[in-house]
Amino acid sequence: MERGVSVTLLCLLGLAGLMQSKAFEVEIKDASNKTCIYASMRVNFTIQYETNSSMSKNTTFEMPGNATASRSHCNESEDASLLFIQFGNGHTWSLSFTKNNTMYHGSALTVTYNTNDTALFPDALRKGLITSTTNFLSSIPLNTSYRCVHSEAVAADNVSQIFWNVTLQAFVQNGVIGREVVCDADKPAPIPSTTPTSPPATTPTPPTPTPTPVGKPAIGNYSVANKTGTCFLATMGLQLNVSRKIDGKNIWLLFNIDPNITRSSGSCSNDTATLSLSDNSTTMEFAFAIKKNNFYLQDVNVTMLNGSEPVSKSNNNLSFWEASVGSSYLCHKEQTIAVSEGLYINTFDVRIQPFGVRDGKYSTAEECFADSDLSFLIPIAVGAILLFLIILVLLSYLIGRRKSRTGYQSV
Ligand SMILES: *[C@@H]1O[C@H](CO)[C@@H](O)[C@H](O)[C@H]1NC(C)=O
Ligand SMILES: *[C@@H]1O[C@H](CO)[C@@H](O)[C@H](O)[C@H]1NC(C)=O
Ligand SMILES: *[C@@H]1O[C@H](CO)[C@@H](O)[C@H](O)[C@H]1NC(C)=O
Ligand SMILES: *[C@@H]1O[C@H](CO)[C@@H](O)[C@H](O)[C@H]1NC(C)=O
Ligand SMILES: *[C@@H]1O[C@H](CO)[C@@H](O)[C@H](O)[C@H]1NC(C)=O
Ligand SMILES: *[C@@H]1O[C@H](CO)[C@@H](O)[C@H](O)[C@H]1NC(C)=O
Ligand SMILES: *[C@@H]1O[C@H](CO)[C@@H](O)[C@H](O)[C@H]1NC(C)=O
Repeated sequence: MERGVSVTLLCLLGLAGLMQSKAFEVEIKDASNKTCIYASMRVNFTIQYETNSSMSKNTTFEMPGNATASRSHCNESEDASLLFIQFGNGHTWSLSFTKNNTMYHGSALTVTYNTNDTALFPDALRKGLITSTTNFLSSIPLNTSYRCVHSEAVAADNVSQIFWNVTLQAFVQNGVIGREVVCDADKPAPIPSTTPTSPPATTPTPPTPTPTPVGKPAIGNYSVANKTGTCFLATMGLQLNVSRKIDGKNIWLLFNIDPNITRSSGSCSNDTATLSLSDNSTTMEFAFAIKKNNFYLQDVNVTMLNGSEPVSKSNNNLSFWEASVGSSYLCHKEQTIAVSEGLYINTFDVRIQPFGVRDGKYSTAEECFADSDLSFLIPIAVGAILLFLIILVLLSYLIGRRKSRTGYQSV
């Protein structure tokens, strides 16, 4: 292949004085020797692996600054490119990118680690290469670079990755790194302001992604498949209500789950089913069980990043979203699931079927009581109020009559 890819690699040794911080930084060049991918970031890996003593161990290490990127490539004629990093004793990390007319995004994020590396994987039971793939980087406008100093966690299989101090741009045009689009976590705390900071555009750029507005969350369609096909269906809007200490004060923050960047996975069996939803910083697990021919949500587990630390909260004593096995549960009304003291999930327009999905379609729905109360409680309430008014009028009439009679007698 005459792709003429050349790679510049810079190892940044921390000049920060105290700490020896090493970021890896790469510029991938295209056939005309212009930068087409730029990446500068720090990545920590935490990998769980089996040892010969039948125990699993965790190993944590950082992507070294001297990683090489010689197998990366950009291809002008295709809407795809690849950042491929090799480091240490046979480990690799790669991120592929695709684009459309206005945006580009990351797709497969693949980590292959070599458990032969005894320094990182002492006493590993299985020796050789193990691969884990997930997704990273949602849509970014073309000609802009993604910047996130805050850490973001991405977890899949036995590999968790924490990224921080990230600057990343694919499909760089004419070798010029574009202006920065910062991640939500880097944005200053929302201040009610009317003037969005958009610098004088030199090129007509599409609007930057706005922070998730804290209105009603978008409704997502999620599913889980096993060997026999789709076995779990869920449609819902999800919002997290989280308590955070800011300046010594407890503040409730709302986060909407964006279905566009949320991946679903899970498992189905005869008596339990789980749905796991994750985006770049949050993983939510919903576990269903069966009692007396009804399914119900028994267990919810939420893992969020607190700074760079993943924090897990769960409630495994729930009795939510109950409906008979073989049907689906439906609830349009907003509901709140208490996960822990400082964490609630607000759900909107839920339809869910964890068991007995046929042909990838929902079965008949059993609607929640909250939905139905409007339709039949209101007429009952109105009727009751009317009856009460009639009785009141009657009573006052009777009392009035008796009063006037006693009145005549005393005069
Ligand atoms: C596991 O392997 C290491 C060497 O690879 C060895 O030193 C250790 O004794 C082994 N442990 C067990 C429980 O077999
Ligand atoms: C990254 O891993 C190193 C150990 O390899 C650890 O000292 C450091 O605190 C980690 N950083 C983050 C942000 O997790
Ligand atoms: C790992 O080591 C085994 C033998 O110890 C060898 O057969 C295998 O090829 C090695 N794999 C890699 C990827 O280095
Ligand atoms: C973050 O990256 C910039 C370059 O992009 C570098 O100057 C800075 O030292 C880095 N900070 C940390 C904490 O790694
Ligand atoms: C978030 O939770 C707090 C505490 O339960 C509550 O006061 C607040 O109304 C909730 N906010 C929303 C939008 O659900
Ligand atoms: C998700 O993507 C669709 C089309 O791709 C878009 O119309 C919608 O606004 C996006 N939703 C959010 C919450 O970004
Ligand atoms: C987040 O971390 C801070 C300290 O780093 C701690 O005080 C706080 O309780 C944590 N919040 C949660 C929700 O775990």
